[in-house]
Amino acid sequence: MSQSSRKKLLLMGRSGSGKLSMRSIIFSNYSAFDTRRLGATIDVEHSHLRFLGNMTLNLWDCGGQDVFMDNYFTSQKDHIFKMVQVLIHVFDVESKLINKDMETFVKSLTNLRKYSPDAKVFVLLHKMDLVQIDKRDELFLIMMEKLQKISNPYLFKLVGFPTSIWDESLYKAWSQIVCSLIPNMNLFNSNLLKFNEVLEAEEIILFEKTTFLVILSTSTMQQQQQQQQQQQPEATLDPKRFEKISNIIKTYKQSISKLRTGFTNLIIRGSNGTHFYVDVLTNNMFIMIILKDTDANTNYVSNHEESMILENIRAARKDFE
Ligand code: GTP
Repeated sequence: MSQSSRKKLLLMGRSGSGKLSMRSIIFSNYSAFDTRRLGATIDVEHSHLRFLGNMTLNLWDCGGQDVFMDNYFTSQKDHIFKMVQVLIHVFDVESKLINKDMETFVKSLTNLRKYSPDAKVFVLLHKMDLVQIDKRDELFLIMMEKLQKISNPYLFKLVGFPTSIWDESLYKAWSQIVCSLIPNMNLFNSNLLKFNEVLEAEEIILFEKTTFLVILSTSTMQQQQQQQQQQQPEATLDPKRFEKISNIIKTYKQSISKLRTGFTNLIIRGSNGTHFYVDVLTNNMFIMIILKDTDANTNYVSNHEESMILENIRAARKDFE
């Protein structure tokens, strides 16, 4: 496999900040409750995750206990920090040892600057559920400002997310992290828009097959275009819908796997004339199509129309392989 399709992601952060929990939820189908019985990570745990077919995410979960951390920044530093594409640094927002957390972050940045200066740096301000709802935005802004200031001398531009295992924020963060690594995103964009010219759907969403992380959606692309043209976005869609859908379908997949079955496609006929199609698009992607009944007087999609849509999906497959 070529080096470019192998992506090394470093997951850093002090012990107990939530690294293993998030990894288990996103990549191993754990529920948030299950994470309570996870033990501490010893040294570095490597996982190799096939993502979108020819991409392998090499996730290095660096156990955060001091005894291991000291080694990462001394005897193991070139091994750990060489050829990194992405550093994901997790901060526990309720940590009582903020200075120590910052110290660790600075050490990571120092080594990253030296060994992988082109890496992208994401910071997750994690366990946000423990902060009072009306204080979250403010805390996020204050912490991001502080962290960016710390990062400036190392020339890294941070991308930050508030996250929690108890809501959809974790999916949002990980979707964006992983999408930042996909090289042919522009091609996917244009093929998806072309496909929607045929279907005229309310929205089409692409999900990665195993993690159900969102890769792309037609309405997000439209919103981005509107923002670029400085138009007021007309969207009234729930901004958390992707993460909610990911959660629902993963839970559904898990439930039916207990019955030793799976699904290749799923059609939900909504009572308000909205119909949802979930189907396998490629070996690595699921597609979700949301269609509104054009005839307001009918709330009915015929079997013929359903098979036509599934046929259209089959025809589009080659554009996303
Ligand atoms: P090391 O392996 O020692 O580096 O720790 P870690 O960063 O992998 O922490 P881990 O994932 O083991 O999480 C520690 C504890 O935090 C677990 O009991 C989790 O259930 C809890 N936890 C993780 N994420 C969250 C979160 O978003 N909110 C809350 N409230 N608890 C969380």
